Amino acid sequence: MVEKTVDKSVEEEEGDQIVNPWEVSAKDGTKIDYDKLIDKFGCQRLDQTLIDRVHTLTGRPPHVFLRRGVFFAHRDFNEILDAFERGHKFYLYTGRGPSSESLHLGHLIPFMFTKYLQEAFRVPLVIQLTDDEKSMWKNLSIEESKRLARENARDIIACGFDVTRTFIFQDFNYVAGSFYENMVKVQKCVTYNKVVGIFGFTGEDHIGKVSFPAVQAVPSFPSSFPHLFSGKDDLRCLVPCAIDQDPYFRMTRDVAPRIGYHKPALIESLFFPALQGETKKMSASDANSAVYVTDSAKEIKNKINKYAFSGGQDSLEKQRQFGANIEVDISIKYLNFFLEDDDELEHIKKEYAAGRMLTGEVKNRLAEVLTEIVKRHNLARSAVTDEMVDAFMAVRPLPSMFH
Ligand code: TRP
Repeated sequence: MVEKTVDKSVEEEEGDQIVNPWEVSAKDGTKIDYDKLIDKFGCQRLDQTLIDRVHTLTGRPPHVFLRRGVFFAHRDFNEILDAFERGHKFYLYTGRGPSSESLHLGHLIPFMFTKYLQEAFRVPLVIQLTDDEKSMWKNLSIEESKRLARENARDIIACGFDVTRTFIFQDFNYVAGSFYENMVKVQKCVTYNKVVGIFGFTGEDHIGKVSFPAVQAVPSFPSSFPHLFSGKDDLRCLVPCAIDQDPYFRMTRDVAPRIGYHKPALIESLFFPALQGETKKMSASDANSAVYVTDSAKEIKNKINKYAFSGGQDSLEKQRQFGANIEVDISIKYLNFFLEDDDELEHIKKEYAAGRMLTGEVKNRLAEVLTEIVKRHNLARSAVTDEMVDAFMAVRPLPSMFH
């Protein structure tokens, strides 16, 4: 999200906000306008009807990220559900660019949600670790990117994926064979002008960047995984991701029918806001802008108390009299993502907005909730052995992946 790949002219045309895989920013002092983004990208809003269908089709209550609108947009998710209703399964595809050692809570969101989808629909999942992407964009050595990919795989496995239905791969080790053949097919279908239009590359960007989108595209096609989906070219693919990844899949969807595949369907999330507020961006270089899974209970508490932007009043009297602006309050936003109890959340919002609850009390509750998640994550992560990582990453058939 740091590097600028979009040149000035493209930025100006796009107006105030910039959202692409490498940069997410709104005009100073404003927040991302998601309605505008949906219009500009041409995806659909995820409405209550679809959420209800997930419930009916899987028999599982909708995940908190569905109930709270964290996953808020989609492309053709309805078609995935239609097909599923007729008895046709699909597979899930998501990924991560391994650019850092430790993940923050925002990084876990797509994986927590993907785990829910995998369990609810009982379908296979492929997870791409784009060590190649990060070695190019973050200027990391190949060895270092590969190491980070494996480290990140441990955090991903700790989210609770089922090894009998999950294949994790890192590009530097897996790209070859049918996967590479599909890449070449994609590359032949996308002109330089097209990729510049979608991603804003300039003449100064190296050709590694210009051709990378094909690498992220082809896991959407079943034949890229012959050990899993041989003879199943008709299988549909659903990609859960944050909405900044949409450009990759716009390109993929454009190409798919021309090379004989279904377009991948998408289910897309909001961005997770920085502690400093929705108008500030979370920065990998500022450890105080986010809560990391490696933070101690004390660090979590301190960070929240010191940095979480408050919509409360600045004195006790004023807070009692006017209440908090919960629309801008970061503790409330974070609780909206991570406090599962709907009734408790409603209660906190009501009391805080009315001035009967104070910022400090809300922050305390948030610290408890996040500490619990981080504690659980670390316990799970420390149980992930090297052998388990190897098992998830082994190129192998998954015989009962649809059962
Ligand atoms: N480009 C993504 C990132 O930087 C990683 C990624 C690869 C991905 N394939 C994906 C993310 C599919 C979501 C879905 O994080």
